[in-house]
Amino acid sequence: MEFVAQDIDREKEMVSLVEALKRIAGPIIEIGGPTLPDKFHPHSYRLIKLNEIPKRLWTVNIDLFHENEEWDQDAGVWRLVKYPSPDIQADGMMLPLGKESVGAVFASALPDPIRNSVLREVHRILEPGGLVIWQYGIPRDIKKARQVGLIKIGGMDSPSGSHDYVFKKPKPMTDSGSPKRALLI
Ligand SMILES: C[S@@+](CC[C@H](N)C(=O)[O-])C[C@H]1O[C@@H](n2cnc3c(N)ncnc32)[C@H](O)[C@@H]1O
Repeated sequence: MEFVAQDIDREKEMVSLVEALKRIAGPIIEIGGPTLPDKFHPHSYRLIKLNEIPKRLWTVNIDLFHENEEWDQDAGVWRLVKYPSPDIQADGMMLPLGKESVGAVFASALPDPIRNSVLREVHRILEPGGLVIWQYGIPRDIKKARQVGLIKIGGMDSPSGSHDYVFKKPKPMTDSGSPKRALLI
């Protein structure tokens, strides 16, 4: 029963994410991408089907050539999977992108040592109201995200113990609680 409830929540999360991504203005990038579909993650991202995102996903990776050993369940062997080259070769901790120039950021299974710096950089490049889809996170990422100014607005903890989060860069608020007029123009 628990699994059923989680699956239903995941479906809801996917629908609302598609709608939220339609409202963002800037481009959508993936840091540490691309993330390839596999048997367990047929859409690459568990919280959203990449073919449903409203814009092209521009991939950014520090390496032009990335390969990974992945388990082939059917054949019962490890296989070396070669990933396509990213659109942009750059360090996710120091991106060649302007302040508040990006609408949404995807990231999946980023190495632990770079997560904090990537979150700080993501906050810099994200437009106010922008979103972060952070797959294979760890609970410590939530605290770091909050420290750099991102708030957790959704996500899913899977029965296998992995965590997917959705963070948002809040729009600045006026004293009355509504977004600053100047920033909406
Ligand atoms: C474990 S793989 C995950 C690949 C893919 N996102 C996935 O989920 O299957 C980690 C990826 O992060 C990339 N990476 C490592 N350090 C990086 C950095 N400083 N900036 C950008 N990408 C980086 C690696 O090249 C690799 O492609």
